[in-house]
Amino acid sequence: MCRPDHYTVAYRINPWMNPQDPTDTSVALQQWQTLHDAYTALGHDVELIDPLPGLPDMVYAANGGFTLDGVAYTARFTHPERQPEGPAYGEWFREHGFRVHEAREVNEGEGDFLLVGDAILAGTGFRTSVESHAELAQVTGREVVTLRLVDPRFYHLDTALAVLDPAGADANIAYLPEAFDDASRAVLARRYPDAVEVGIEDARWLGLNSISDGRNVVIASRAKGFEASLRERGYTPIGLDLAELLLGGGGVKCCTLELRGER
Ligand code: ARG
Repeated sequence: MCRPDHYTVAYRINPWMNPQDPTDTSVALQQWQTLHDAYTALGHDVELIDPLPGLPDMVYAANGGFTLDGVAYTARFTHPERQPEGPAYGEWFREHGFRVHEAREVNEGEGDFLLVGDAILAGTGFRTSVESHAELAQVTGREVVTLRLVDPRFYHLDTALAVLDPAGADANIAYLPEAFDDASRAVLARRYPDAVEVGIEDARWLGLNSISDGRNVVIASRAKGFEASLRERGYTPIGLDLAELLLGGGGVKCCTLELRGER
């Protein structure tokens, strides 16, 4: 995770961001801290990267890369405003014992790459290039499934799809069907017949932007419908208010990069 010390909305690279609206960095810090503390209470180890001045979006650590089996595939951001974050996260991975694979292709890390069971679901359409999907398949040796996003509000895969059970053969997901093109919806319906379908009234709070350990699911507290569906399915939802970070177009998952070391 990355403390939002320099958080603000200074430019607009997604429809949630309105630089003319005020932001409050101290509120962002408080809300971010509740997420951090929720993770430690659940027994996760949380590592921090130093926030850099001039990079207000660095708090959205999910975009910093993708790690699997001790390998880190670095991010290459679409927008110039975020491009310096790629090398900053790359350096962190190197210093923390990951074998770093510098990406050739444009990609925004775990914003668009989600590990589900043995496969990696990969978003494209707004940020991450399809070419990076092939590159990631080569680097990881895993199946990478391309999914095309069509709604600019849901510009990263992790805003439109949540991984509920990270591991195991019956790994399941939740998603907003209308965020995907027809072909991608068909792929998701075939691969995940038991998926939780989430409606726009939950997705608009970035309810899908969540982190699950297979049982506890940390979500936006305003996503009441999703919260109820999770309970019905036997999960334990943990609702948090990250409203200040929503002004930048991010939520729970965006603030979180999963670190997967050597197996
Ligand atoms: N303002 C950031 C951007 O537009 C938000 C990133 C959210 N991160 C995510 N993983 N969806 O790039």
